[in-house]
Amino acid sequence: MTTESKITPVEHNQKLYIETVGCQMNVLDSELVVGALRQEGYELTSDMLQADTVLFNTCSVREHAEHKIYSQLGRMKFSKRERPDQVIGVIGCMAQKDQDLIFRRAPHVDIIVGTGQLGEIPRMVREARSNREKSMALSLGRKAGSRDSVSASFESYDPLREPEMRPSPYQAYVRIMIGCDKFCTYCVVPSTRGPEQSRAPKDILSETRVLAGQGVKEIILLGQTVNSYKHTEDGRLHRLSDLLHQLHDVDGIDRIKFITSYPKDMGNDLLETIRDLPKAAHYLHVPIQSGCNDVLKMMKRGYTVEQYMEMMGRIREILPDCAVSSDFIVGHPGETEESFEKSMDIIRECRFKNSFIFKYSPRPGTKAFELYEDEIPDKVKKRRNNEMLALQNQISEEDNAGFIGKEVEVLVEGASKTEVKKSGSNSEETDGTIQLMGRTRCDRIVAFDGNPRLKGTLTNISIFDCTPTTLLGSIVTRSYQHGTEGMLPILQ
Ligand code: SAH
Ligand code: SF4
Ligand code: F3S
Repeated sequence: MTTESKITPVEHNQKLYIETVGCQMNVLDSELVVGALRQEGYELTSDMLQADTVLFNTCSVREHAEHKIYSQLGRMKFSKRERPDQVIGVIGCMAQKDQDLIFRRAPHVDIIVGTGQLGEIPRMVREARSNREKSMALSLGRKAGSRDSVSASFESYDPLREPEMRPSPYQAYVRIMIGCDKFCTYCVVPSTRGPEQSRAPKDILSETRVLAGQGVKEIILLGQTVNSYKHTEDGRLHRLSDLLHQLHDVDGIDRIKFITSYPKDMGNDLLETIRDLPKAAHYLHVPIQSGCNDVLKMMKRGYTVEQYMEMMGRIREILPDCAVSSDFIVGHPGETEESFEKSMDIIRECRFKNSFIFKYSPRPGTKAFELYEDEIPDKVKKRRNNEMLALQNQISEEDNAGFIGKEVEVLVEGASKTEVKKSGSNSEETDGTIQLMGRTRCDRIVAFDGNPRLKGTLTNISIFDCTPTTLLGSIVTRSYQHGTEGMLPILQ
């Protein structure tokens, strides 16, 4: 056999279109799937109709996210009539949850792949192209076997990385856990992502080193309850605080963030580690979900408002400049006007950097769906959502205003959103500057004009204005200075 004949001939110009909804886990999964398909000779296209393979990476957390995908699939029916050779795949959380229901609702779908089986995609796409047969790769349901067998059916998928799909070339998500064992009553994630499993520190470390070698400056560690991370290696228990210490030593990495934290598992060991490690972001996303104990109990969140406030007290004491953000569900069964007001009070008291606010969406298969009636009218959910958003925006803007006149250090991520919208035309000013964006160590977004060469660097910016979501500033240009007199204080 000649060397040439050993290489599988790659059909060239295979085009892949991928659409991703849902959380950062899904964004990472898409990046990895694209990486694997590139090795099969695929290139990305942004035109769904031009694509040879179309993948939808789906989310089931709210009904709306599923509707979006089913209507996209509806549209695909027509394109498939014209392009019968097209392979259509539904992957991710909705694939694991709806399984063959997807084939029944959208018969033109070829492959269905759950979150724990993403490694199968290249083979399944290849086979679908050659034999046109439908196939599914799914993990076991949470009650379909022993914990070990269910866990084994969900594989953490962390192969080679695909720089093009990252949030920016300087940032990368790194999965440290899969699954969730908290079983909040409203939530599908424990069944779509399977049992909680933590990856080995040595695998996380070697992945981070590779990323650093590719120019990544910031890693964002991912887990549904990321601070519940625990892994026993060589007879020693590693918690998130231990992992942060190990990752801190990786040369080239300037910042380390982790999302999303679970209030009950926020130990002082973790807070003190963040305080002691200069590369650790002073930012925590710790959703409270509701400010009312009766609702929290119905949600089975496992903590009371008082316990959450005790945790906030420890955060403020150990990390005084730390930004905290939260999630809220409004209109959950049992949420009275009084309970809603208690959630509003929590926002006033905690002064979150930002809050992600969601209207309760009953999800078949969850305990809440089984036990509670979805009793709050959509009109009321909408009003509560808007009121809460207005309050949060007011607080975010007030707190952002506190940065005006101060200097912050940002990691420059790239062109700002306004700049990206302008693209197409040549948006560079004559001196080569464009509007850039970056983030402070406490995760605040900063927009400023600067040379694109600054991307990926840590740069000092002086803040002169703000909106609820963004600090506006200009680059600090200092000619030679003696001492530090007259300099603005640097905030983290
Ligand atoms: N693991 C994360 C959350 C993952 S889901 C955590 O526990 O914090 C992201 C957010 O979606 C949740 O924090 C919750 O606010 C919201 N969410 C989950 N299920 C929902 C539902 N059925 N209806 C509305 N919002 C929901
Ligand atoms: Fe869902 Fe609760 Fe797990 Fe978060 S902790 S993923 S809300 S079950
Ligand atoms: Fe959605 Fe799955 Fe993430 S349900 S929120 S994509 S874990």
